[in-house]
Amino acid sequence: MVIPPTNSGNHGASPLSASDLEEICEIIYKRSGMVFGETKRYYIERRITDLIDQRNAQSARNYISILRGDLRETELLINSFTVNETYFYREQHQLACLSNSILPDIIRSKGPGDRIRIWSMPCSSGEEPYSIAIWLLENWPLVDAYNIEIVGSDIDTAILRRAAEGYYGQRSLSKLPKDIVDRYFEPENQQDRRLIEDLRESVTFARGNIVDRQTLAAIGRFDVIFCRNLLIYFDEAAREVAARNIHDLLYPGGYICLGHTESMSRISETFEAVRFPDAIVYREAGDK
Ligand SMILES: C[S@@+](CC[C@H](N)C(=O)[O-])C[C@H]1O[C@@H](n2cnc3c(N)ncnc32)[C@H](O)[C@@H]1O
Repeated sequence: MVIPPTNSGNHGASPLSASDLEEICEIIYKRSGMVFGETKRYYIERRITDLIDQRNAQSARNYISILRGDLRETELLINSFTVNETYFYREQHQLACLSNSILPDIIRSKGPGDRIRIWSMPCSSGEEPYSIAIWLLENWPLVDAYNIEIVGSDIDTAILRRAAEGYYGQRSLSKLPKDIVDRYFEPENQQDRRLIEDLRESVTFARGNIVDRQTLAAIGRFDVIFCRNLLIYFDEAAREVAARNIHDLLYPGGYICLGHTESMSRISETFEAVRFPDAIVYREAGDK
């Protein structure tokens, strides 16, 4: 059955046929692990009709041909399908768990001045890795005793550019105490604020695709990985690939924090759930 697009505008593009839609979803899945299908037709059509317009491709078929021969175009396709919803101090209990339980455990095998690497994957527009930096400055008395490296990664190249710029509106900042906003953010205009330069420079951003090992090769290994609100967009096969990659990028005994609706137990046996007072997190279990 061919369902006409609900928002075709006047660009003259053909409706997305069931097979066009399937082909596009297949490309997105192969390149990102994100699962889309008929049930998301409205969401897909809105984005594809915009992309057809921008490329002046006239039809979904032409657009798919462009996609097939052009990696940069696939990157733009993925960018327009990502869901970047995030905000500062999201799931704050995990940040508390980081300073109260995870880091105290990690430093048992480290000495003063040693490096502690924390990865926010996916970091979207930066709220998560910057929250980690702010939280540790505010809540971990040993923050200056170690060399803490925070890296933010995402598949979406446009959102990573925004993350590095560090401009935020009220929606992003709403969970932060006012005194923290005043100390770490400069007023930009009536609505927006910009994270201060020192904080912007405390996080390194690098593109990474959690289901594509090649894109992760240069990122190195980590003591703690925040992988929150990503696996929900994947099917089981993609979750398994992601879990393998996360496992390989964690140092032995390293920790992973997932979103509250996500769980590693069903995904991989190489992680064990650890119940700390503030949160349940997962620990790499390879050294057990
Ligand atoms: C809902 S945001 C989560 C942001 C943050 N972790 C949080 O919980 O607030 C999901 C992010 O996953 C990213 N994403 C989707 N597929 C990805 C993949 N294969 N590898 C890395 N990031 C991906 C999207 O670009 C989007 O920014």
